[in-house]
Amino acid sequence: MGSFQIGVSHGLSEIEQACWEMMENASKNRHAGMHHMVVGTVREGKPEIRTVILRGVSREERRVFFHTDSRKEMFTDMSSGEPISLLVYDQQLRSQIRMKGHAIVHHMDELCKQRWAKTADYSRRSYLQPGVPGLPAESPELPDKLRDFSYTLEESEVGFNNFVVMECVIDNMDWYFAHHQGNRRANFGYEGRALVHARWLNS
Ligand SMILES: Cc1cc2nc3c(=O)[nH]c(=O)nc-3n(C[C@H](O)[C@H](O)[C@H](O)COP(=O)(O)O)c2cc1C
Repeated sequence: MGSFQIGVSHGLSEIEQACWEMMENASKNRHAGMHHMVVGTVREGKPEIRTVILRGVSREERRVFFHTDSRKEMFTDMSSGEPISLLVYDQQLRSQIRMKGHAIVHHMDELCKQRWAKTADYSRRSYLQPGVPGLPAESPELPDKLRDFSYTLEESEVGFNNFVVMECVIDNMDWYFAHHQGNRRANFGYEGRALVHARWLNS
């Protein structure tokens, strides 16, 4: 199968593999549609959604990764092991993938160290801003040093305290394909690393 060209001739097994392949590719390509992922959480019984950058995929472990800030509300939403939902979509690939699962939160651990070390200077800025995300701000302006990216790599190290890696464990993946011969939909269930069901659904 051509890597990212799912078509109407493909079966469930190929589609399941292609879903992970599309996301893995998107995690490395900032121009890919699926590079942006929507994360849904529940806060006091109400749904919350927001966009994040898809930073990594482990096909074998059925996991997807993104980065966030420990001061954000989504950190609290996800810390308790509550259910989460994730959504990616690529118009060119005509594919939407919706996932359900929970998050393993990494803060100040070895995985965070490895990923922080690979984080570019400019990406560190949001972890350096002094204001707590989501709280009222007197001004939208950043301090000069942050605005101009004129901090040193050494000065940026303090941002590590706020840096979080979210490891999302996927239990269910739902693929929807928009096609002129008829839309298609398939659903895949996982227990740990094992695929426990793969079935077509009415679209
Ligand atoms: C294009 C785009 C990419 C974003 N990527 C991230 C990200 O990777 N991590 C993150 O924590 N917030 C990211 N954000 C900000 C979140 O969408 C969100 O607004 C913020 O985290 C506050 O959400 P919360 O109050 O639910 O925590 C991004 C926003 C946009 C528009």
